[in-house]
Amino acid sequence: MHYTEEKWLVWMDQLAKNDYVIVDDFISEALFSNIMDFFHEMESADKLKKAGIGAQQDFLVKAEIRGDFIYWLEEERDTVLKPFFELKDELIQMLKRFCYLSLSGSEFHIAKYPAGSHYHRHLDQFNERTNRQITVLIYLNKDWKKGDGGELVIYNEGEEILVEPVAKRLLLFKSDVIEHEVLTTNVPRYSLTGWLLHQPAGIGYLLG
Ligand code: OGA
Ligand code: NI
Repeated sequence: MHYTEEKWLVWMDQLAKNDYVIVDDFISEALFSNIMDFFHEMESADKLKKAGIGAQQDFLVKAEIRGDFIYWLEEERDTVLKPFFELKDELIQMLKRFCYLSLSGSEFHIAKYPAGSHYHRHLDQFNERTNRQITVLIYLNKDWKKGDGGELVIYNEGEEILVEPVAKRLLLFKSDVIEHEVLTTNVPRYSLTGWLLHQPAGIGYLLG
């Protein structure tokens, strides 16, 4: 365990009540360096690709909607990120225990928004695929300061919450209800983003 159950309970309680939760300094300096070393290695190897919108046959690349470059992680291949995957497993365990979510699987990518890019207001669900339950963001921007831009705007029940993408900050929100937007960043912006998934809708049907 990275964190005590008391801490998890407070965070999970906020997520349940407000549909989102922000935890500062969620990852250690060691884990931060570990992720950034990997990130820069992938950048140098030209592994980051222009992100699209939609799934499979609906996949479109539209820079005016989203301008980030991503690299999908695979636990078996990207073993250097083992400490991150262990923390992710702890998060899943705590969500199951305290929020009674029936999660099965997850998908994560690293994302870089070049200076001048943004992501329009959206919901993290596609028409064809609605099994994203919780969005997980870990921000990786050391020395982020006002004016650098790239804040995330959360639209929650008429309220707009501005989240600064400062290094080591965790943000969780419910993927099916929270609309959000990445404001134009003036400097390259780094994050590790993922989704915790529930059973694909078809399974109950197939078994039923
Ligand atoms: C996304 C997204 C937000 C962020 O990738 O769907 O909304 O702050 N990212 O990077
Ligand atoms: Ni999103």
